[in-house]
Amino acid sequence: MDRIPEPELMDNEAQAGAYAQADFSEPHSRFVDYFKLAFPHSPTDGTAVDLGCGPADVTARFACAFPQLTIDGVDGAEVMLKYGQARLRQEGLIGRVHLVHQRLPSRAGLRAAYDIVISNSLLHHLRDPLILWDAVNALTRSGGCVFVMDLARPENRARAEGLVDQYAAGEPSILQRDFLNSILAAYEPEEVRAHIDRAGLRGLTVKPVSDRHWIAYGWR
Ligand SMILES: C[S@@+](CC[C@H](N)C(=O)[O-])C[C@H]1O[C@@H](n2cnc3c(N)ncnc32)[C@H](O)[C@@H]1O
Repeated sequence: MDRIPEPELMDNEAQAGAYAQADFSEPHSRFVDYFKLAFPHSPTDGTAVDLGCGPADVTARFACAFPQLTIDGVDGAEVMLKYGQARLRQEGLIGRVHLVHQRLPSRAGLRAAYDIVISNSLLHHLRDPLILWDAVNALTRSGGCVFVMDLARPENRARAEGLVDQYAAGEPSILQRDFLNSILAAYEPEEVRAHIDRAGLRGLTVKPVSDRHWIAYGWR
């Protein structure tokens, strides 16, 4: 099945609100668990950046898991960052986690390089996947860690709709619609491998981890 791109930014209030209020505790806590498995000896007291951080659920979980890190989250949708800011306040993370309103490939407002670069579910929004991988390349210090997780596009639309039924049946219709659009827009792990190689990040491993997710990780 060919990829069906979806809009890049999630800057619609209703869409961002539904996303920010959804319960992503299962995949997002797994994000942190997979990171720990991939990097049992990662730096715990440096800097990290979360690309396409949205309402900062992954950012906040990561910050709580690694209390010595200083973290920037970046997103092109201001309304998402409004929810993100509220989340940071709620978790007592203001000061240690900083949100930057910026649309990649622009990196204005970010540090020159970070010890850790993470990203969850940004890639499937990008028509040009190299926007993510070039940012990863530029923003990870030499020897730093990269950890990216995203959806994998299934073999056909029926399977995509089956995943929505399986994982989002109880969610509001706007969220079900967005989940379906995201699965249809996702890249397959083989495509991700090719993009990563093209970006010169051959050291990264790409691995499917569930019926709908893959991870890409490694030292730069
Ligand atoms: C599906 S959300 C994921 C949010 C968050 N990482 C999470 O896992 O909950 C994708 C986010 O990427 C943002 N985004 C899309 N294209 C972007 C770009 N070029 N630069 C920065 N953010 C972008 C969207 O606005 C949206 O907030």
